[in-house]
Amino acid sequence: MKPDLHIQKLAERIQELKKERKAVILAHNYQMPEVQDIADYRGDSLELSRMAAKSDAKVIVFCGVYFMAETASILSPDKTVLMPDKSAGCPLANMITAEDLRELKRRHPKAVVVGYVNTSAEVKAEIDICCTSSNAVNVVLSLKDAEEIIFVPDKYLADFASKRTGRRLIAWDGYCPTHVKILPEDIVRSIRLHPHAKVIAHPECTSEVVALADETLSTGKTCDYVRKSDTKEFIIATEVGLVYRLQKDNPGKKFYPASELAVCPNMKRTNLEKVLWSLEEMKDEVRVSDEIRRKAKKAIDAMLAL
Ligand code: 13P
Repeated sequence: MKPDLHIQKLAERIQELKKERKAVILAHNYQMPEVQDIADYRGDSLELSRMAAKSDAKVIVFCGVYFMAETASILSPDKTVLMPDKSAGCPLANMITAEDLRELKRRHPKAVVVGYVNTSAEVKAEIDICCTSSNAVNVVLSLKDAEEIIFVPDKYLADFASKRTGRRLIAWDGYCPTHVKILPEDIVRSIRLHPHAKVIAHPECTSEVVALADETLSTGKTCDYVRKSDTKEFIIATEVGLVYRLQKDNPGKKFYPASELAVCPNMKRTNLEKVLWSLEEMKDEVRVSDEIRRKAKKAIDAMLAL
């Protein structure tokens, strides 16, 4: 069978089974093109969390990485949250454990704790308020009365939020191994090749890359910005999967990945075969224990209430 026909057959079978199972398919903006194409909703971490909570589907097939499916399950414990490949983790989320954070809290007993959504449920259970890359600045701004603020685990997102808000943040030393592959020289070279393009960086990029960007935005906000902008060319400094979505949604504009090396191996674990198997066999389910879920949900709800 020709590859395109194979993809089409898989996609058709997925759509049939999705109806039978009363399922909804959510795909993060970094997923492979064919996975984005069969999804009901594509989005950034915050958009997908909101979608998962709002949907009346019984089953959520989450095409993303583990902490995202876990967040969906925390918000919707009555739904069955499936991951086509449960081994798709997030190295950034794995850079801090709940015990690491308890120890940091012991050293700063008065601090309010902001935790990036890229954390395990156990870590979320230890934080006061969650944030994503699209609302980190507003979350920090909302903590006007806090004497001290701990921000975990991404040091670059912390630096970005600190510079935008003028608040000193006690940051954890975590980072995304995919975003740090984008170097300042990649941006300089891209600008030389495409002098009329605007540079949009994700806030997980290094501070040097962010300093060279015209805008620093989450993947979802990048989609909004590009759609509304009169500019026709963009250099995209984030995981390369976003370029597929941007190009598909904006055929009249041009997008250049700042670095072809920025590929998240975990985001690329999900493919159509795995999506189909997960619907056929109703696995792998992602669940969080009730005690952790209740505590983690408080931190997510605090963010969603903003
Ligand atoms: P967004 O929320 O901007 O999609 O980012 C998610 C992420 O994990 C980036 O590495």
